[in-house]
Amino acid sequence: MTGPSPAVSRVTALTIALSKGRILDETLPLLAAAGIAPLEHPDTSRKLILPTSHADVSLVVLRATDVPTYVRYGAADLGVAGKDVLLEAGSDGLYQPLDLRIGACRLVVATRRGFDWAGLVQRGARVRVATKYVQVAREHFAAKGMHVDLIKLYGSMELAPLAGLADAIVDLVSTGNTLRANDLVAVEDIMPITSRLIVNPAALKLKRDVVKPLLDQLSAAVAARSEVVA
Ligand code: PRP
Repeated sequence: MTGPSPAVSRVTALTIALSKGRILDETLPLLAAAGIAPLEHPDTSRKLILPTSHADVSLVVLRATDVPTYVRYGAADLGVAGKDVLLEAGSDGLYQPLDLRIGACRLVVATRRGFDWAGLVQRGARVRVATKYVQVAREHFAAKGMHVDLIKLYGSMELAPLAGLADAIVDLVSTGNTLRANDLVAVEDIMPITSRLIVNPAALKLKRDVVKPLLDQLSAAVAARSEVVA
């Protein structure tokens, strides 16, 4: 046999970590514009490491909250993660060169319709808020000088005010359908959220020849997409 075995990893080989779920559907066209298409669709493949049409690039599709961890430790060179996830996990040790402008939604405070949130806030009452986004929520309410007991949840936050677990939730809203279906309303807007490209700083240095052109192509794809959307 001549030449290196394909199993030997080259310094040019790149791993990109993607978030499962709806961000993935918006990420794949951007990658395709940069010449990277998975050889099997991530939704149907049972493979955990997906080869792509680009010989040097493979994809791993992870739970959103695990993406920054893989990139921080260099197990993935690049990743796509929501700003919500990055704020919650902390972005130390991650280079964030590009807002991909996908997965757009808003982080809000929501309560049951008719609940007197404004009255509670005005009276300075202690309130209970359930959320997956404890760090962001803590900062938001601290900035307002509110007394809040935060309850950490991992999903289905909309249930918390309905079941009497909390007065309010801090959650993402995209179409607003989930709030409406559960008779909840947004009472405070915290911030807009989009997905970001994150890069391991060592990978940026050591694999610059592959990473830099990819960043340029993704940046061009984002700009082209924004022109179409605008
Ligand atoms: C998010 C969020 C809401 C929903 C809002 O959940 O937590 O439940 O989307 O979207 P809408 O305004 O379009 O109805 P997601 O589906 O991402 O799953 P999660 O509960 O695992 O976070």
